[in-house]
Amino acid sequence: MGLHKDRIVLAYSGGLDTSVAIGWIQEQTGREVVAVAVDVGQGGEDLQVIRQRALDCGAVEAYVADARDEFAEEYCMPALKANALYEGKYPLVSALSRPVITKHLVRAARQFGATTVAHGCTGKGNDQVRFEVSITSMAPDLDCIAPVRDLALTRDVAIDYAERHNLPIETTKHNPFSIDQNVWGRAIETGYLEDIWNAPTKDVYTYTDDPTYPPLPDEVIISFKEGVPVAIDGRPVTPLEAIQELNRRAGAQGIGRIDMVEDRLVGIKSREIYEAPGAIALITAHAELESVTLERELHRYKRTMEQRWGELVYEAQWFSPLKKGMDTFIDYTQQYVTGDIRMTLHGGRAVVTGRRSETSLYDFNLATYESGDTFDQSHSRGFIEIYGMTSKLAAARDVRFGRGIDFGTGNLNADN
Ligand code: ARG
Repeated sequence: MGLHKDRIVLAYSGGLDTSVAIGWIQEQTGREVVAVAVDVGQGGEDLQVIRQRALDCGAVEAYVADARDEFAEEYCMPALKANALYEGKYPLVSALSRPVITKHLVRAARQFGATTVAHGCTGKGNDQVRFEVSITSMAPDLDCIAPVRDLALTRDVAIDYAERHNLPIETTKHNPFSIDQNVWGRAIETGYLEDIWNAPTKDVYTYTDDPTYPPLPDEVIISFKEGVPVAIDGRPVTPLEAIQELNRRAGAQGIGRIDMVEDRLVGIKSREIYEAPGAIALITAHAELESVTLERELHRYKRTMEQRWGELVYEAQWFSPLKKGMDTFIDYTQQYVTGDIRMTLHGGRAVVTGRRSETSLYDFNLATYESGDTFDQSHSRGFIEIYGMTSKLAAARDVRFGRGIDFGTGNLNADN
């Protein structure tokens, strides 16, 4: 096995469960643990502090990766191009981050000579599937292990372990929620939210302010190039900066709060609160620009594909052949999705008020009812005659067989 004992790379968050997992895995498996923390814009603690904690908890190596730009460019932007909203609502916050985190885990496994990757997920959720299917897709030779699921590392065991070993981690601070966050949004579940009749309370939210008492309306112009935001109010931005700025501005208006019961991959329904102000503002603007620039049939077909794309990504298929093929198609659709969208952000809503594009298919002279109309209305008569032909033939047959539409026998006299 080389110079060191067989090693396991652990996806490390800095929290109680994964901090305990470092020692727990070593005790249970006799193998060394390399901790890897990935910055996907989750904010919170300094990653160097998290790295030191991993070492203090017994990791043989600890590594932090700044994946914020990579996450924004290679994961959030494809989701934006796909206007991806799982079950029509959820912008795939956690589902998008797992593949990029996994990529860094696999890289670390290669670098530090590990044969197994570990993560802190339970056995009930989607994320265990996303981690493990992503790992298999990139590195079929690596094994996976989930200490919470496979090595009986329950919450109580973790608290007890941390106290007995004096680990440098808070065990008393009780957070009733399970939270996952990154630059694309934030997911909050468990606690009293498990009763789906309970309304979320104010303390659930951190990315958004209460939309009931918004500040003054905020007008924003987002410029896109081939489906990707490149400027806000005329100032050039990277994808990461675009998301961050809109998180700030749309968040201040309470945009992007989502309260939903969703269908998990493992079959159960679960209640989750999301806040994704930047993602929702960007998707709203992007979809609008597509309405102006995509040819009708391409637009319609893409909309149906978007739904499937969201399901695939939700269901751990980021690296699957079908998802990759869809990305190629979606990239093709974006070649003319260039232009500006003006929106008013206010009171929980991002409302489009203007569109402007060199590659627009909107033809003012065809659309206008004023002078300058270039649409030849005389062609419509013949078009409708042929277009309605199949319905006309079918209706005539229905009448012949006594199955015509029944208009009733009532008196149509307006006085009745
Ligand atoms: N339900 C979401 C998903 O499967 C989020 C999962 C993580 N949520 C959490 N609150 N820890 O993508």
